Amino acid sequence: MTAAPILPIEIAPSVLPVDFSRLGDAVAELEAAGVDRIQWDVMDGQFVPNLTFGPAVIASARRHTSLPFEAHLMVLTPDVMAAEYVAAGCTRLIVHAEACLHLHRTLGNIASLGATGGVALNPATPASAVAHVLDLVDLVLVMTVNPGFGGQRYIATMERKIRQVRDMIDAAGLSDRVHVEVDGGIGPTTVTGAAAAGANVLVAGSALFTDPLGLAHAVSDLRTAAERARSGSGS
Ligand code: DX5
Repeated sequence: MTAAPILPIEIAPSVLPVDFSRLGDAVAELEAAGVDRIQWDVMDGQFVPNLTFGPAVIASARRHTSLPFEAHLMVLTPDVMAAEYVAAGCTRLIVHAEACLHLHRTLGNIASLGATGGVALNPATPASAVAHVLDLVDLVLVMTVNPGFGGQRYIATMERKIRQVRDMIDAAGLSDRVHVEVDGGIGPTTVTGAAAAGANVLVAGSALFTDPLGLAHAVSDLRTAAERARSGSGS
């Protein structure tokens, strides 16, 4: 089933490459550059080797932008601090299917906190892992790298999974409610494949912050390339 995605293309920068001593300015600069939301890569040093930030750091950046915040919880126990991430100003919590013994219950807990839930799938995890929770989420994140670090190479074989997830969402009649997000190695040369496969929310870190023409150019370039890919022009 190849129903055209209804939800718009969104650019959701990862703040992983940012100088953490100036997070407030960085999120304000990202807003000025035209991004749609901010993604906080929360890492616990257990589920992934790296260790980043907790709710207090996110809360400190909250007053510097009006953009929505989403927390990508690369943590072993997402239920434990979910309420704190919502209190810090995150309106979407993305948990990893691999970290949740009771994914359906975890997503219900997130909804009870007044946030929306997303499920992230590591490269080896099949799309079927979200088959019975699509009614509980507003986003499925298909990881296009193994989580833990920015600047990794895009795993192009994940495009088949992106298409599978998109088709599952379309078949469930949820195209207008559930986003397909991709994260990892997303940039000008990889966004076309991901968007053509059905992704509409693009997480990027390195590609945005290394564009010699600046953040606004990088954001606009990525959005245009994704929209072209979706419309099939591909050019
Ligand atoms: C992996 C991280 C990265 C980050 C984006 O755990 O989630 O994917 O957000 O990194 P880049 O865009 O540099 O690959």
